Amino acid sequence: MSNLEKTRRRAEELRSEIERHNRLYYQQDAPEISDAEYDALYQELKDIEAAFPEMITPDSPTRRVGAEPVESFTPVEHATPMLSLENAFSPAEAIEFDARIKRFLGSNQPITYLAEPKIDGLAVEIIYEDGRLVQAATRGNGYIGEDVTANVKTILTVPLTLRPRKEAPPPPRRLEVRGEIYLPLDDFNLLNREREAEGQTVFANPRNAAAGSLRQLDSRLTAKRPLTMFCYAVARHETLPVATQSEVLRLLRDWGFRVNPEAAVCPSLEAVLDYHQALDRKRHELNYEVDGVVIKVESLERQARLGATSRAPRWALAFKFTPPEAETRIEAIEVQVGRTGVLTPVAVMAPVKIGGVTVSRATLHNEDEIRRKDVRVGDLVIVRRAGDVIPEVASVVIEKRPEGTELFHMPSACPACGSPVIRPAGEAAHRCDNASCPAQIKEHLIHFGSKNALDIDGLGPKMVDLLVDQGLARTPADLYHLTRAQLAELPRSGEKSADNLISAIRKSKRTSLERFIHALGIRHVGQRLSRILAEHFGGLEALRRASTQELEAIHEIGPEVARSIVSYLSNPRNRDLLNRLTGPEIGLVLTAPSSAGRGPLAGKTLVLTGALTTMTRQEATARIVAAGGRVASAVSRKTDYVVVGRDPGSKARQATELDVRMLDENGLIELLKG
Ligand code: IVH
Repeated sequence: MSNLEKTRRRAEELRSEIERHNRLYYQQDAPEISDAEYDALYQELKDIEAAFPEMITPDSPTRRVGAEPVESFTPVEHATPMLSLENAFSPAEAIEFDARIKRFLGSNQPITYLAEPKIDGLAVEIIYEDGRLVQAATRGNGYIGEDVTANVKTILTVPLTLRPRKEAPPPPRRLEVRGEIYLPLDDFNLLNREREAEGQTVFANPRNAAAGSLRQLDSRLTAKRPLTMFCYAVARHETLPVATQSEVLRLLRDWGFRVNPEAAVCPSLEAVLDYHQALDRKRHELNYEVDGVVIKVESLERQARLGATSRAPRWALAFKFTPPEAETRIEAIEVQVGRTGVLTPVAVMAPVKIGGVTVSRATLHNEDEIRRKDVRVGDLVIVRRAGDVIPEVASVVIEKRPEGTELFHMPSACPACGSPVIRPAGEAAHRCDNASCPAQIKEHLIHFGSKNALDIDGLGPKMVDLLVDQGLARTPADLYHLTRAQLAELPRSGEKSADNLISAIRKSKRTSLERFIHALGIRHVGQRLSRILAEHFGGLEALRRASTQELEAIHEIGPEVARSIVSYLSNPRNRDLLNRLTGPEIGLVLTAPSSAGRGPLAGKTLVLTGALTTMTRQEATARIVAAGGRVASAVSRKTDYVVVGRDPGSKARQATELDVRMLDENGLIELLKG
């Protein structure tokens, strides 16, 4: 063997040894060698690589120092969406979740769950091909994240190459691993002390510190932060030789990933409640921030049957701990006008730290809420912060109320335009009744151009103020008629920024249907529902024709939301706006989601009647929707199939009368298969 070949082999041996010691140290807390011995191995490899740069491999542990900075992160579409989790805040809600699962599965036996800490960090997905790390991406909005490969490669507990244990089954050719990246609490505190000493701003909480560290355009900076990761899932785990969630975790561990040692199998919901209590007591001893327990149905076959809504899997739950609270004083109550004209009272408070985050404003919801809690300016109050939710005033410390406080009254005139404020019968909200209220017009335009809507760069609150105050825009359609000359003349604006805004507005003409629906700002229709509507209808015209009944047939939509959508779409002013935006003069081009109009039941409407034997009605509905179909509650001429189970109701007769095709359960199963 040549000397060169010997050196090459030694380098390979060193790389594998160093990664093994990394695992022993970081993953198993069981180092076999001293720090000095480790440093010696590392230095030897570095020396070889310095002398023979052609021997450097992309997965060498010496590469964990980061790479050249990038201009921005590239968007990455997740092959399998990274969903969110449904939340429960009390044992009663967890019990309700368990009951729903039993109903769905048609079982009254105890359900076995896997329980583990919910870590407050950042979710990422890491992809391995042929055992090598090829890509890492943040969760982003669940569908599209950011490429942070160079940054994740600097994290010592993330394997660059899979070196599975001998007994373990080999990983698939393509492996998509998911988990949470976080900064250990002691490192977080150390980092903040250092930053304080250097006069830099400190991070409000470990989560922000982890996010700030991971999302560095210069990965050499990420390499300096001791981030770490717990893995908890594999996308498309159906392809693995395992039957349970805990076996997935065992596989991950055998393949060299760090898995939370606190994870435990709970044979029933009672066991989950015990686990939750025990972890709540213990969480202050852990070196990471935990905000609850995640439970997952242990059986993967059951997970597959339960499936997911567009937001979250039905088989998992984030069972939160009681949110942190703090006491502070109310200095003022401000009233904000939102884009739908709703007036929201907001408490302005002496700044206070709650669970590591400084808070100085909290929502008071509406006048009834203020009365119920009897909140007054000057009061000492308990403020609560639950996750990402806007902080709220939980209660007043009545014993400590100063003298001379006064009851709060909603203003009778809109703080933005002075028009009369009304309170529609049956509603808790006060509204400004003026459809041309500048506050509403502005909020609406800001929302239209915001990041998750049409994403018009440069159309922030300041620009919108200018446009509306100068009379250049009142509706989103006006934006598309703005000229460069008009913009360049605005105060504090130049030709360059005018050009940028014009081009951003032009760019927004090609957008997705879901962004467009979201941008309209229909009451109760946020980002999540917009996606559901886009997937369901596949086009704006189909949505515009939808009836409340049709909308209510969609699992996630209730009567109130359905009414709100139909009322928006039938309002002449809104119809005119939609016609203008999509008409020949402006010509927005809306792309339908790729999943729309696909699946064996795409575009078909089904009605269920009678009991089915192999699945519950809820399960049948979920499977039909997953196959692209709709389930309506009543039979009409537009119904494609009526599925007739045992003891059918009058719908079977209606189907005969209206000449709609009928199917039995086997027929439905055949249709679902395609
Ligand atoms: S499972 C489909 N397990 O919680 C299952 N998530 O609210 C999806 N998270 O985005 C996630 N610890 O960032 C899971 N042990 C854990 C977790 C966990 C923290 C985060 C994750 C996710 C968010 C959902």
